[in-house]
Amino acid sequence: MAQPQKTSVLFKQLLLAMAFATTHHSGVCQQLTGQIKNPDFETSTLQPWSTVGNGAFISATAPYEGKRSIELRSGASIWQQVPLKPLSHYKLTAWLKTASGSGDVRLNVNGLGPNNASIASAMAAWTQVKVDIFTEAGQQNATIEIENPENAAKNSAWADRLQLEFIGAYIPKKIAGISPVKVRKPKTDMGLTQQPNKTLDWLVDAKFGMFIHWGLYAGPGKGEWYMENRGEWGAQNKGILPEEYRKFAYPESGDAYFAADKFNADDWASLARDAGMKYMTMVTMHHDGYALFSTKARDAFSSKQTHDRDFVAEYVRSCRKYDLKVGLYKTLINWRYPGYYDVNGTDCKPNKFGYTTDPAHKENARRMKADLYDQVKELVTNYGKIDIIFWDGGWIGQQGSDADAANFWESGKYLDSENKWPVDPYIQDFDEKNGKPLGLMGMVRKYQPDVIVNPRSGWYGDFKSEEGGNPITGPVRSDEIWEKCMTMGPGWGYTPGQADSNKVISLALIKRMLSDCVIRNMSLLLNVGPDRHGQISMAEQHVLRETGKWLKKVGGAVYGTRGGPWDPKDGQYGYAYNGKYIYVYLLDGFKEKDFALPTLNKGQKVVGVYSLSDGNAVQFKKRADGTTILKNISGSDPDVTVLAVQLNKNVFP
Ligand code: GLC
Repeated sequence: MAQPQKTSVLFKQLLLAMAFATTHHSGVCQQLTGQIKNPDFETSTLQPWSTVGNGAFISATAPYEGKRSIELRSGASIWQQVPLKPLSHYKLTAWLKTASGSGDVRLNVNGLGPNNASIASAMAAWTQVKVDIFTEAGQQNATIEIENPENAAKNSAWADRLQLEFIGAYIPKKIAGISPVKVRKPKTDMGLTQQPNKTLDWLVDAKFGMFIHWGLYAGPGKGEWYMENRGEWGAQNKGILPEEYRKFAYPESGDAYFAADKFNADDWASLARDAGMKYMTMVTMHHDGYALFSTKARDAFSSKQTHDRDFVAEYVRSCRKYDLKVGLYKTLINWRYPGYYDVNGTDCKPNKFGYTTDPAHKENARRMKADLYDQVKELVTNYGKIDIIFWDGGWIGQQGSDADAANFWESGKYLDSENKWPVDPYIQDFDEKNGKPLGLMGMVRKYQPDVIVNPRSGWYGDFKSEEGGNPITGPVRSDEIWEKCMTMGPGWGYTPGQADSNKVISLALIKRMLSDCVIRNMSLLLNVGPDRHGQISMAEQHVLRETGKWLKKVGGAVYGTRGGPWDPKDGQYGYAYNGKYIYVYLLDGFKEKDFALPTLNKGQKVVGVYSLSDGNAVQFKKRADGTTILKNISGSDPDVTVLAVQLNKNVFP
């Protein structure tokens, strides 16, 4: 959903794990199983927790619950061993807090080999995290650890109220052979069928794209929701009325002027190329209603008027020059219209601009919708082939779902002659076959028959979208094609944090996120927020170029591959394949020396293994149970090690 969110802290949440060697004890201590001692730090001493590093102490300041919590200085951790039952499933929860949101604090479960688990939070408010723990036969204890990794700002982190709950018996699943992949079947919604798989193949092959949030809001530099909230989340009545907001397009705004004087689309596109990206998606208009293209729509406010430039045209030209697929982001909503909050003119929704119910709002909302049709038609007819559209803001008055609002926008194939907000006849477009007036997606497909779109217009979408920096988990996504989007800095649109290398996401996290996408058959759309001059910060550029260097090494395991043939294990490992190759991604949670590749199908065998991360050959041996052991693989890249396993035959014949 296109809800406001604090992405700056969300994107720091990721699964991480550290493993210790497993030690098996033969004595069973049933009565003790699943007990954490001193789980809420209410005692005056830390026992039985052990400390690593300097600075773990019981703190009486602002605990989550009770009188105390544990404070961990930068680089410190505490741990204790907890007895568990073998072949069991437990749930471990803890409340965690960081000082600023720019560092993270982790809850790790070690000593369980490939079943080690970990979760990290970078939230500056008390946040509950949860990990599932599974024990194999013979495993009778685990080490529970709370860790505040060394951080540059030397910030503390806190933890409180750990709980371990026995869920039930766990029966380990044995993977035998390679099962056929599920094939996505195109569905029909609102009279329009999803694009066939072959039309989406380029996105699945591409894996990595650049998202760009740039517009008037880059002037004040407090994020793309500035018009609505003046950079203060949750603030009341902070909206900036359109007449006042316009001023950011003019030099009178001084340091908050959206100057665009250094905007050179070639710089963006060449950076995307260097980063190993294969497509771009630029915001052509965000909720503030400022169009970055030349538009003749009735009530338009555009860069053509204010800067005599069509930024979208310049951008599209550069995408093509650098051989990148062309993506456009377009929001449906428009804060320049009071009617957006009161489409019926009878029930104005809460808003920050002081608008109240007014019968005239119904016509105002209709004009907003008509402008949308007008502008979308311009976008799909004036710029040549558009490969992908990222719709946003389908919901009305920032309430309900995109699908609920589809009746207002008429996002499907046709317009309904009975609709309460008719699009003006001069803006309507028609189906050449039957003369029927076209709805939003009907019109888009008429001019861009191969374009693929996300679901946020209210129409079902050709692919699905997952937003934000929260960890990507679970099995390979096979029912639909998925794109994950997240931002590199605090917020999507420019904020000063985007130029601060301590606040921009790390190379390690990009590698991790991209790997998590690839092994689940997803693509990653990574956002940059250029400044008011049009430049992407050096901090973001640097990490992107480093990502490009990494992709030069492992690109064979990324581009053109499909996630699978087996499901990943969150935080530990996963697979991608292409032809005769299976690529094994060993994530930072995997600390074993050897890796057991599941059983292949009859007639298939491993003929060679090498590491894309360091170029070295890997020894392997087939075991009696059908698995193939890949030996001595840990350590070549602390973030993610990528192995190429070559088979004698194609993975899927
Ligand atoms: C969130 C933000 C929105 C941004 C979008 C990108 O929904 O609120 O401003 O454009 O994410 O996916």
